[in-house]
Amino acid sequence: MSYQAITLKQYPSAMIDEDTFSTQTFDEKALADGEYRVKVTHLSLDPAMRGWVSPDPNSYIPPVALGDTMRSLGFGVVSESKNDKYPVGSQVTGMTGWTEQCVIADDSLSIVPQGVDAKTALSTLGMPGLTAYIGYNDVLQGPTKQQDKPQTIVVTGAAGAVGSVVVQMAKADGLNVIALAGSDDKCQWLKNDLGADHVINYKKDDVAAKISAGSPQGIDLFF
Ligand SMILES: NC(=O)c1ccc[n+]([C@@H]2O[C@H](COP(=O)([O-])OP(=O)(O)OC[C@H]3O[C@@H](n4cnc5c(N)ncnc54)[C@H](OP(=O)(O)O)[C@@H]3O)[C@@H](O)[C@H]2O)c1
Repeated sequence: MSYQAITLKQYPSAMIDEDTFSTQTFDEKALADGEYRVKVTHLSLDPAMRGWVSPDPNSYIPPVALGDTMRSLGFGVVSESKNDKYPVGSQVTGMTGWTEQCVIADDSLSIVPQGVDAKTALSTLGMPGLTAYIGYNDVLQGPTKQQDKPQTIVVTGAAGAVGSVVVQMAKADGLNVIALAGSDDKCQWLKNDLGADHVINYKKDDVAAKISAGSPQGIDLFF
């Protein structure tokens, strides 16, 4: 059996283009003890990946090596296993790479409970959601602060993958949420669908005036 994977052909100097990646066919290899094979059904495409194809060795993570399968998060199902922790049929997510299948020898992939679909596992419960969660709960420590008045949070990039989760967590915690985005459509979505208290289209509104109006008692948290 063979499978296809997208490998890094050359480091892009600016934009990713048709010379950055190539599609290669590989032969499936037999599993060793402790290994399991994942049939990858969903690939993730995250902003961080642009940095991973930069040859800068001083980044927080080594660059993807030329010729290697492109590093990425993904979601799939264990199709063959010699690892008791990952029985056949388990849904898993983690660093699968851009490939139709991968063989993993460690416990780096997380088992996704049945009932959680691939998109949720990769988005709200995946890297964007965890980024929002850690930023909001651990860095800002917003909801753990005891205050005698309702807290106000300002969220920039609020309609993006990360910001939209922060807006929802803050609303769930009862905060007064001021959300900034770059279009009226995004502002409407933030207000009507996500429940932001105040929205600002930073490309055309008077940002300072609108922030002041939305936070009469001041700003407590800034994301
Ligand atoms: N997604 C992840 O898993 C993850 C993990 C770690 C770190 N991050 C970082 O978190 C940030 C947000 O990521 P994301 O995944 O939410 O990205 P995203 O979905 O692309 O959202 C980012 C939003 O930022 C807004 N924006 C762009 N340029 C701006 C500017 N000059 N001033 C104000 N807003 C601007 C854009 O929305 P408007 O059109 O509304 O301006 C854009 O949609 C990025 O810096 C990313 O590198 C993301």
